[in-house]
Amino acid sequence: MSESINTSVDFAGIRLANPVFTASGTCGYADELADFMDINQLGGFITKSITAKPRKGHTTPRIVETDAGMLNAIGLANIGLDKFIEEKLPIIEKVTTPVFVNVAGETVAEYIAVIERLAKEPVIAGFELNISCPNVKRGGITFGKDPQLVTEITSAAKQAAGEKILMVKLSPIVTDISEIARAAVEAGANALSMINTFTAMVIDIETRKPILANKTGGLSGPAIKPMAVYLVNKVYNDVTKDRGIPILGMGGIRTTSDAIEFLIAGASAVAVGTATFIEPGCAVKIIEGIKKYCARNNISNIKELVGSLKDW
Ligand SMILES: Cc1cc2nc3c(=O)[nH]c(=O)nc-3n(C[C@H](O)[C@H](O)[C@H](O)COP(=O)(O)O)c2cc1C
Repeated sequence: MSESINTSVDFAGIRLANPVFTASGTCGYADELADFMDINQLGGFITKSITAKPRKGHTTPRIVETDAGMLNAIGLANIGLDKFIEEKLPIIEKVTTPVFVNVAGETVAEYIAVIERLAKEPVIAGFELNISCPNVKRGGITFGKDPQLVTEITSAAKQAAGEKILMVKLSPIVTDISEIARAAVEAGANALSMINTFTAMVIDIETRKPILANKTGGLSGPAIKPMAVYLVNKVYNDVTKDRGIPILGMGGIRTTSDAIEFLIAGASAVAVGTATFIEPGCAVKIIEGIKKYCARNNISNIKELVGSLKDW
């Protein structure tokens, strides 16, 4: 029965075999988790953030576990655009799942340089614009919390991306996330992804120092899930539902039921991040779980679930 469920998703004009992605920064650039998970079974794959020049990121310690999640202050460490093209694109060329490149930068020009160069590559399905990283001094969330800057960077990025999908990744650390979402969509975003991490701190009480060398880090994992579900539902109702813009929902997804909550809240697809560190094959398991849930609930097409939250 679960084999007859239609799990395919029209995501901003491209067809995904199913609605499950892995989240940026948690699964490398392409094949790093190949021993644990067949990336071609995913609905979509998102690379670690790429910047124009390589970045070393912050000094260690840059991750710490918490009761229901983790803090990271990686600082957008990555191999940079040239090495990505040279070493990772040939691997991505063999991947059949749509691959999105997450793009970060310190200036609008840096984002645009990366997008313009990669927009020429047929193998790239689109971009996820990271304007929501809480762990860097320049760029990141600086862009993502000011609607005017969101308009500016999104319209420039859309122009550079051409026909490719431009997904804008939102931060939860804003006063009104719908205002930011509206700015992105009105400036040309084809999809929204949400959410990035919450700024947080863990203190070692013996040394009385923060555990992370960067002092603060981004909180991810199950701790943030209810907040992420709420924010997805808010943006769905306020901004995307009437405009037909898909949301890629994420934040603490670990199980099938977590993923289904996001779909009901209004996400067209979901991404699994932190849970991958505990169980690398977790995203693929969730795809099977979604099929079983649909079979059990007489849902023949996954689309029926999206935004199906009922009123009391
Ligand atoms: C170790 C780590 C590295 C991350 N790196 C990036 C990144 O490079 N770019 C980005 O946009 N998000 C990055 N994220 C954020 C995730 O993509 C995701 O938005 C967030 O962790 C919430 O999902 P989760 O709770 O399932 O992990 C990172 C998260 C973690 C835990």
